[in-house]
Amino acid sequence: MSKYEQEVEFNLSESGVHPILLSDLLSDNPNNIDQLLATDLNYPYVNGIPELRENIAALYDGATINNILVTTGAIEANYNTIHTLLNTGDEIVIMLPNYMQIWGIAKNFDFKLKTFHLREENGWKPDLDELNEIVTRNTKLIAVCNPNNPTGYILTENEMKAIIDIAEQARAWILTDEVYCGAERLTDKQTPSFFGRYDRLVAVGSMSKAYGLPGLRIGWVIAPVDTIDQIWARHEYTTISATMLSNKLAAIALSPKVRPRIIQRTRNYIRKGYPILKQWMDDHENTFSVVPPQAAAIAFVRYHLDINSTEFAERLRKEKSVFIVPGDHFGMDKFFRISFGLPPDYLTSGLNRIHDLIMEIKR
Ligand SMILES: Cc1ncc(COP(=O)(O)O)c(C=O)c1O
Repeated sequence: MSKYEQEVEFNLSESGVHPILLSDLLSDNPNNIDQLLATDLNYPYVNGIPELRENIAALYDGATINNILVTTGAIEANYNTIHTLLNTGDEIVIMLPNYMQIWGIAKNFDFKLKTFHLREENGWKPDLDELNEIVTRNTKLIAVCNPNNPTGYILTENEMKAIIDIAEQARAWILTDEVYCGAERLTDKQTPSFFGRYDRLVAVGSMSKAYGLPGLRIGWVIAPVDTIDQIWARHEYTTISATMLSNKLAAIALSPKVRPRIIQRTRNYIRKGYPILKQWMDDHENTFSVVPPQAAAIAFVRYHLDINSTEFAERLRKEKSVFIVPGDHFGMDKFFRISFGLPPDYLTSGLNRIHDLIMEIKR
């Protein structure tokens, strides 16, 4: 993605909503700018400034700032968590489809990789029988993404409980990537975290998706205090810390006054964008099928065209300057992942260009 996303005219590959302007983020308090200008550009607290960790801890029942480690994006949170909890040769179980980072790490570091699936035919519900079958006493960690990238599926309370039960029987860790919590399309109820429901649990959050602030490069880990300390040690060797300014800006974004406004903005983009995509798909009768995403700014769409997904994405990029993610990247040809949490004119123009290519392929 990073090779092409800045070059295309219409980038429909991103999984978060259209990003926020700095001026918009700072607009609630006239003193914000002066306070930022007075920032000492030192290293911040390596584990995150207390004000930010307080605002993050307030999002989770039963958490204190000692349960929080601020990282350079969720990507570092996942990376250092995996390296803290697993060693080469250990067994890891991963939900698929998924954001493929942990899957890639498992390959790179020779973990024993097992997968369980969200089933399209069941509206992307997880196959818990499959999970139950593959988890053994050798399983060290189960990695889930909730709400899910790329399907937007949100686990039910019963499914969360079942996953915890299965992990508990094996005494396996759960790593839950929750970066889309807050980006719900159909409800104003925030997706509940796994945090606090099981002792061997690490949850990961981020400013990038639900808050539309990927440029801050701020994510976090929430876990038992001794686990946080171990991940912190790796964090110190990887990035030392996120930046001072990002820590401060994220603390503003997560403050009780600003956060609800930002979450509402995210939901507005998602709720206005999806009907545009849906209408466009409906206009192409029998070309697409999709399980409507419950959250996140992306849809995982099955297409009924005689073309491989990577080839389709490549032709779109080269011939139409539109960028989407091919299903092949998730090991699922005949799908693509497409963003809709974008300004309506931009989204519509990008979809019109995809329409042009589809007409050419059908001809
Ligand atoms: C599920 C998931 N986790 C983590 C990340 C990385 O996010 P960040 O920008 O916070 O590093 C992404 C980015 O697409 C994602 O979709």
